[in-house]
Amino acid sequence: MKYILGIETTAHTFGVAVLDFEGEILSNVRDMYTTEEGGMIPLEVRKHHKKVAGELFEKALSQAEIKEDQLEAIAFSNAPGLAPCLLEGMEFAKETAKGLSIPLVMVNHCVAHLDIGESVGANDPVMLYASGANTQIIAYEAGKYRVFGETLDLGVGNFIDTVARYMGLGFPGGPKIQTLAEECEHKDELIELPYSIKGMDVAFSGLQTKIKNLLDKGVNKKDICYSMQEVVFGMLVEAAERALAHTGKKELLLGGGVACNSRLQEMCKIMCEERGVKYFCPPRPLLVDNAGMIGYLGLKMYKAGLSVPVEEMGDVDIAPRERTDDVEITWK
Ligand code: ATP
Ligand code: FE2
Repeated sequence: MKYILGIETTAHTFGVAVLDFEGEILSNVRDMYTTEEGGMIPLEVRKHHKKVAGELFEKALSQAEIKEDQLEAIAFSNAPGLAPCLLEGMEFAKETAKGLSIPLVMVNHCVAHLDIGESVGANDPVMLYASGANTQIIAYEAGKYRVFGETLDLGVGNFIDTVARYMGLGFPGGPKIQTLAEECEHKDELIELPYSIKGMDVAFSGLQTKIKNLLDKGVNKKDICYSMQEVVFGMLVEAAERALAHTGKKELLLGGGVACNSRLQEMCKIMCEERGVKYFCPPRPLLVDNAGMIGYLGLKMYKAGLSVPVEEMGDVDIAPRERTDDVEITWK
């Protein structure tokens, strides 16, 4: 049996995974930089990645019950993301590939979030990609994943994390906001908040200002969290529904860390039932940043000949700003 290593490193999470050549994920381990208070400082995150890389590599191999010399290739996320984090991952990937004399595959992180949907049965979906830095409605059309709608300012997760930080909840804020929203005792009285959607694009900055004002005035945090989730997720579901109508596609796929939110999942499910569209949501370990999805897509790219041999390692670089629709999909 042949094996491929996946490495994820675009932002807060350093992940390592081992897959066999059938695409089976044999191990998928990760360690996330977190804070009790305040946000992420890219250079601190880089230090975190440097510290955990070797240990996670060993753990991924031992959980998959293989030895490093059984690896055929290494796929790593070279785009998009925070440059210091990407560089740390690339250095680790190059060093390991050199040591083993095996090729590298450069994987776009956003495309990987989408492509992993196939492992849960989504064949040709509209994807609602809701993560920290990204909020996009994507679907495959004519050789590329096209972005039909996206945020015009902040990623939805970054928006939620900023509100959480303002509440003194630390990073990441999404799960804590979800818990507070669930504890709200006034679910029948929505607080009026700006709902900003144009076509399939959304925006959050007006909402952010309004919420900060409400918090400054001492409005109950649980009530704010509940209303905020209803409004923000309502916008996302509406944009996704428009993309389904526009493309005529019959599948909706969720992806990205914010898609872990059970209220967002519930709202998407209801919309899909009403439209007669199939709903797909990968399990949590494949929704958040993880190396399993990088290995999964990296394997397809490797099989399609899209790897860089060890002698040409100089051509391997990061692309912090590469967009989903910059990537030519030649392996499908
Ligand atoms: P990308 O590089 O794709 O933008 P990312 O670096 O933001 O990804 P992810 O792991 O995909 O990383 O997403 C992290 C985000 O998900 C954080 O903003 C976090 O607050 C949010 N999140 C996680 N769980 C929940 C939840 N239950 N509800 C809402 N948001 C959540
Ligand atoms: Fe991500």
